Amino acid sequence: MRIDILSVVPELLVSPLNESILKRAQQSGLVEIVIHNPRDYTTDRHRQVDDYPFGGEAGMVLKPEPIGSLIDHLCSERSYDEIIYTSPDGITLNQHEANRLSTLGNIIILCGHYKGLDQRIRDTYITREISIGDYVLTGGELAAAVIVDSVVRIIPGAIGDGESALTDCFQDDMLAPPVYTRPAEWRGMKVPDVLLSGNPVLIRQWQQEQSLERTERLRPDLLK
Ligand code: ADE
Repeated sequence: MRIDILSVVPELLVSPLNESILKRAQQSGLVEIVIHNPRDYTTDRHRQVDDYPFGGEAGMVLKPEPIGSLIDHLCSERSYDEIIYTSPDGITLNQHEANRLSTLGNIIILCGHYKGLDQRIRDTYITREISIGDYVLTGGELAAAVIVDSVVRIIPGAIGDGESALTDCFQDDMLAPPVYTRPAEWRGMKVPDVLLSGNPVLIRQWQQEQSLERTERLRPDLLK
């Protein structure tokens, strides 16, 4: 999979995309993540990527020319399955959407900025707008990092234990069961006996019951 991220503040993306599972997935060639700055596609002396909005509102709007040139350049090199814009207007990211994106070949993620993006770029190129929740961030970089993290971790092979991404919370619209590690007793609190039983059938049954109980109690909306 290849993910091209377009951002006018690329520094915000460096650390989240270069640690842990995302770092290993790139090193092992499962995913190629390339960050581009539209500023490199400006043609004016000031390398201006944003401008005042027509109509006189406060805030700056991303200009269409540099982003259009950058996307045209990328699309001349390969075809893209999805060109995503991070925006509070979009569909809210969930596990189903992350699963779907993880099956695609090439995607572009354009990070929003301040007041937004010239509508003509949205109309011309954007195939999907994704929000990470009903709140407003300063820019789309953190949202892009969240999207990429949720997508890359489920590419087969990204997580060492082949099973663990499939047993993630939300994969079957259920919350995950509680987990414990050593010691078997801490401050008088014991790990449930069943987990020490060594009986995989009983353990799985207990985990499913716990998942269902937690989902009913904490997120009944998921069961609808
Ligand atoms: N940009 C600003 N707020 C955002 C949000 N909630 N999700 C995605 N992109 C955003």
